[in-house]
Amino acid sequence: MARRATGNSYAPYSHVTVGAAGVTAQHIFVVGSNVENASYGLTLCAECSLVSDLARVGGGRLVAVSIVAGDGEPIAPCGRCRQLLYEHGGADLLLDAGPDIEPTTLATLLPDAFGPDDLGVRRNP
Ligand code: THU
Repeated sequence: MARRATGNSYAPYSHVTVGAAGVTAQHIFVVGSNVENASYGLTLCAECSLVSDLARVGGGRLVAVSIVAGDGEPIAPCGRCRQLLYEHGGADLLLDAGPDIEPTTLATLLPDAFGPDDLGVRRNP
């Protein structure tokens, strides 16, 4: 699904097409593709699209994601997207690391993450 999603990418500036696919604890599949913008900085990564798709299908907890570039090989999620994925999958979220390799966890890619749990306990009274 992630590979297929690269075909829906809009990447006329970088020519790096990215596709993302994920599955939720409720076994719902979600997908996303990167959508670039002439302003460059407003580019939406494939993971952003995937999170929007997650909202579209009614939400849920991500348990595993695969993110690939146009060559079909896994691509490392950028820092911002690691945080986005953390919000919806947490430290145990599995990331496809390619064939022949065990999936890695988001805890490995984003150790000691800041997340929703920090908000309540760090808020001033
Ligand atoms: N890109 C993603 O879609 N996800 C990432 O995690 C890394 C980068 C996209 C953004 C941009 O369209 C292209 O890859 C090159 O940076």
